[in-house]
Amino acid sequence: MQLRNKVVIITGASSGIGAAAAALFAEEGAKLVLGGRSQDRLDRVVEDIRARCREAEALAGDVQDEDYAKALVETALARYGRLDIGFNNAGALGAVGDVTSLAAEDWRVTLETNLVSAFYAAKHQVPPMRTQGRGALLFTSSFVGQGIGFPGLSAYGASKAGLVGLVQCLAVELGESGIRVNALLPGGTKTPMAGDFSDDPAAAEGIAQMHALKRMAEPEEIAKAALFLVSDAASFVTGSTMLADGGNSICKT
Ligand SMILES: NC(=O)c1ccc[n+]([C@@H]2O[C@H](COP(=O)([O-])OP(=O)(O)OC[C@H]3O[C@@H](n4cnc5c(N)ncnc54)[C@H](OP(=O)(O)O)[C@@H]3O)[C@@H](O)[C@H]2O)c1
Repeated sequence: MQLRNKVVIITGASSGIGAAAAALFAEEGAKLVLGGRSQDRLDRVVEDIRARCREAEALAGDVQDEDYAKALVETALARYGRLDIGFNNAGALGAVGDVTSLAAEDWRVTLETNLVSAFYAAKHQVPPMRTQGRGALLFTSSFVGQGIGFPGLSAYGASKAGLVGLVQCLAVELGESGIRVNALLPGGTKTPMAGDFSDDPAAAEGIAQMHALKRMAEPEEIAKAALFLVSDAASFVTGSTMLADGGNSICKT
């Protein structure tokens, strides 16, 4: 029980990595507030967790909205009385295409969803953690934008690289308050998001071959890496950008 009685917000919990983390963190004893846009899918995740006699609440909303970040924190405090961990994982590929084809609005939405949302999350999650004198923030970045480029993903790559800068500055800013801040960089992971990019079996195989392990990750494997970073097992880990990328970043074959 690595997260016994820890109160955790997970965004992007209606699907993929976030849903897998919700199930794992609940199993480890966490009390959860889960975010995503789809109320139906969030409700199903909550039902599964409650069926295993664990605690979870869902609050649907859009991470582009600062009030939603605030409401997730208010829900944690009202329901459980504290906030220990923010796993800010929601993200989207956004518009994919040659840079000359992207509208300014496409770029803005991708940056708002993946990067500005992280600022909103930190802004509202830090105050109760500061009062408590400890806490952990984790942001899901990506292998894309960290030494690996993909044609058509300039906005996504820029947003995910931006998270790394945010994490490094926040880790220094918040260290004295006992708050750890880290980024998790998954490799290709079998989720609906990857489906968007790899519906074609040949393209999917191409992505698998980019990894030293010659396969994509299951979302549960990425959730285990997230568990390490938010748990006390990582009590001296802050400002890090931890790869869980199946050797993607070092594979040039
Ligand atoms: N899959 C990969 O290969 C891969 C690799 C590296 C990094 N990542 C990152 O991992 C994170 C999770 O992605 P995933 O692979 O698990 O994809 P996914 O299954 O598509 O899940 C994405 C999650 O983010 C939520 N979300 C997206 N836009 C949102 C918005 N504007 N407001 C609120 N919630 C929003 C979705 O909620 P709704 O569907 O309910 O809207 C969903 O719960 C993302 O940050 C992604 O960039 C993924």
